[in-house]
Amino acid sequence: MKITIKQAKDYVGQVVTIGCWLDNKRSSGKIAFLQLRDGSGFMQGVVVKAEVSEEMFDLAKHITQETSLYVTGEIREDSRSKFGFEMGVQSVEVIAEAKDYPITPKEHGTEFLMDNRHLWLRSKRQHAIMKVRNELIRATYEFFNDNGFTKVDPPILTGSAPEGTTELFHTKYFDEDAFLSQSGQLYMEAAAMALGRVFSFGPTFRAEKSKTRRHLIEFWMIEPEMAFVEHEESLEIQEQYVSYIIQSVLKNCELELDVLGRDTSKLELVTGDFPRITYDEAIELLHKLDFDDIEWGDDFGAPHETAIANHFDKPVFITEYPTAIKSFYMQPKPGRPEVVLCADLIAPEGYGEIIGGSERIHDAELMLQRVKEHGLDPEAYSWYLDITKFGDVPHAGFGLGLERLVAYVTGVDHVRETIPFPRLLNRIYP
Ligand code: 4AD
Ligand code: MG
Repeated sequence: MKITIKQAKDYVGQVVTIGCWLDNKRSSGKIAFLQLRDGSGFMQGVVVKAEVSEEMFDLAKHITQETSLYVTGEIREDSRSKFGFEMGVQSVEVIAEAKDYPITPKEHGTEFLMDNRHLWLRSKRQHAIMKVRNELIRATYEFFNDNGFTKVDPPILTGSAPEGTTELFHTKYFDEDAFLSQSGQLYMEAAAMALGRVFSFGPTFRAEKSKTRRHLIEFWMIEPEMAFVEHEESLEIQEQYVSYIIQSVLKNCELELDVLGRDTSKLELVTGDFPRITYDEAIELLHKLDFDDIEWGDDFGAPHETAIANHFDKPVFITEYPTAIKSFYMQPKPGRPEVVLCADLIAPEGYGEIIGGSERIHDAELMLQRVKEHGLDPEAYSWYLDITKFGDVPHAGFGLGLERLVAYVTGVDHVRETIPFPRLLNRIYP
């Protein structure tokens, strides 16, 4: 019977075969401990000299790291390992030998690991991060499907720029110009007018010359958009959504969070009721904290966000930013047009902005004015402006940056470890 490591719990006492790789090994004269990994998990195989042929024991002792194997033996409970099961190995068959695997159990520098990202992904730590990432995606689909949202896929090749024109990747589209999507939002707004509540999940691209632990050139965004939903209700949906997926990780990724050494007590607190402060209050708070460099009208940098977030033990919404520093489509606050009905959600522990969102303008005249003020070509945005012409309604939406959320949930300090093959400033290999 061929099973995966993950299925081992259902096969205690049975002899099974697993296809796997050798992650690591320890051996003495009488016993060899094989750390096996098969993608579904990690498990120890124990080879006892007295229980197998001399040939088999000799083979087990000399298997090299990352050699692929079929290993056959009996699944047993093992209370000493967190996984809880091990295999009493009866036989080992080598599929393909691996020689001189570059990533050894010793410490390696970051650049070396990044150059070998295609292999580094096999490590226990990277495996755990990818599993948490997958759980966040799985729970995202579950949450939105359970709450009446329809998944809509906006295009990647576009002619529009929701988040400003300075960070676009340009490409030719036959005889026309095109850009890689920096956000699917405008298309999602059009889709919300057709389907009510929609969400997207896809890659987005920013030609940002930022080299920080929070910036990727290519990152994945979840972008819900909701007709007949205003600013306040959008914040409620955001806190329900973020709480739901974080609690799903706590429930379904216990082993992975343990491998990562994540302090889960902080994540357990993330169950709705996120604190909210306005931009005005945030500026006041920063002045109290001796950030003398910042003035009303400035955007926040990472140190400001971290200082604000450190005041709270849950993610915090900073609301109502100055209109001048936000995107063209945001709805001005009634009676105070110098700020907009928007919110950034800032994660605790210094992980920074994980969500940006707002209520959208639904007034034809104002939208056209904003498009022009921002130097966008009304002709190119004519399809988008149609939303305001044909029964526009109050609507709101937001974008969650998956990699920043993964960094926060796993506790890793750089987004380069949160995506399988990161695209960073000056790095497109491997
Ligand atoms: O705040 P942003 O730019 O908002 C938008 O793109 C809106 N159109 C979203 C919407 O309302 N539908 O980006 C949203 C989120 C940020 O909060 C951050 O988590 C992530 O995307 N993000 C990045 N993540 C990694 N690397 C980058 N360079 C990122 N830029 C933004
Ligand atoms: Mg933002």
